[in-house]
Amino acid sequence: MSSLVGEVAGSAVEGREGKGVRDGFTTGLGVIAATLGSAVGLGNIWKFPFMTGVNGGAAFIIIYLLSTLLVGLPVMISETMLGRKARADAITTLRKVAPKQLWWLIGASGVLAAFLILAFYTEVAAWVFAYIFKAAFGEILSTNPEVTSAAFGSLISNPVQSLLWQWGVLVVISAIIIAGVSKGIENTTKRLMPVLFLILVMLCIRSLTLPGAAQGLAFLFTPDFSKVTGATVLTAMGLSFFKLSVGMGTMITYGSYFRDDQDIPATTTKVMLADLLVSMLAGIAIFPAVFAFGFEPGAGPSLLFITIPAVFASMPFGNIFMVLFFILAAIAATGAMLSLLEVPVAFLTEKKNYSRVKATLLTSGLLALIGSTAALSNSTLSGVTLFGMTFFDLYDYLTSNILLPVGGLFISIFVGWVWGYKEVKQALSNEGVLNNEKIIQLFFGIVKVVTPILVAVVLLNGLGVLEELLWLLHPSL
Ligand code: PHE
Repeated sequence: MSSLVGEVAGSAVEGREGKGVRDGFTTGLGVIAATLGSAVGLGNIWKFPFMTGVNGGAAFIIIYLLSTLLVGLPVMISETMLGRKARADAITTLRKVAPKQLWWLIGASGVLAAFLILAFYTEVAAWVFAYIFKAAFGEILSTNPEVTSAAFGSLISNPVQSLLWQWGVLVVISAIIIAGVSKGIENTTKRLMPVLFLILVMLCIRSLTLPGAAQGLAFLFTPDFSKVTGATVLTAMGLSFFKLSVGMGTMITYGSYFRDDQDIPATTTKVMLADLLVSMLAGIAIFPAVFAFGFEPGAGPSLLFITIPAVFASMPFGNIFMVLFFILAAIAATGAMLSLLEVPVAFLTEKKNYSRVKATLLTSGLLALIGSTAALSNSTLSGVTLFGMTFFDLYDYLTSNILLPVGGLFISIFVGWVWGYKEVKQALSNEGVLNNEKIIQLFFGIVKVVTPILVAVVLLNGLGVLEELLWLLHPSL
């Protein structure tokens, strides 16, 4: 079977050069910018800092690092490797590396997950984009969280505004996607990533130089292992999937645009470290300022859209820093959304032979429809719930807690047990060009045994299944 795989994949690689059929990232720097653009997102700005603060500070960072090294990064390496080998969209990649088997279902679940994440992610991005303008016009400049809370409430409970901003975001990302992989995604992220770092550093300096900043650093970094529970580990693992954009076909799709000479383990590790740095800097930009002005750190959206405006309003030239902050969040969200939208678009252009314009318009149109159920979750549809969740929360829960971990679990099983060491070694050494056998062995050992066991245990535990299984085996437990 493996020789067949080699043949199919090999011809796909040749097809890339022949007739200019397949677009891809053109430079090593472009690969890093695009991949980092996907990883860095709203996850860094509200998920990571807040989760770190409430889950035991440095203790959580250690657990997050461990789950990234043992689960997130190995899945990221696996996905990019398979994508580059097959040079195809998420579904076709798995059909190529495992012909006549059911593994393509992982790709299909990825396309579905990309859709569902986009459905709610575009709405959070919509609020971020709206806030750039609101901040610039001074509309949310109040040190009173009740006022900023009312301003946020009036935005999200207004169905017309919610929909229009979401569609605006869809138009922006669709235009970039239509421009293509190198001219659209690579060019945009290559320009935006340096701007993101620059703004982030400026905000960190502002935050750290405020009197009383130390308390915020303590909230973020003091290790408190008493707050670490089983649920903390599940949260850390879910976050490492979401952060590195894995478990749902994004990295397969981006891997298919990687250059042949790209050192996959080195590149993905760099992206992982840079992403971690952005998360920590985001925490440093946010919490010292929050504490310096005596605010309570809130969770998720309320931290971003209610507390932060009040914090900035409390400092001199606060509105300038506020505009910068929301530009930062918008840049982060854009890179992530591009990588999400590319998953279904790549599938439609390659598998169904649609033009890029047609594939993008079709996907965005469908997204405007499905996404509206998330956009209207705080207004028209606020009373409609499934399993006790609004559409917005349901899409978030389904993807982060189920689809991504399940996708990652099967990817690691496939690579470790079906594809096997020989293929992995070929692919990760760039057909023997790189001398990185030790790293490949380490990676293979982890992805074959450690990753699947960890994901399975944490997943079953999170869904409450593990407890029941243990009870069935030992009713006395
Ligand atoms: N990594 C992005 C973030 O942290 C989210 C994302 C998830 C993007 C899955 C693509 C795929 O915000």
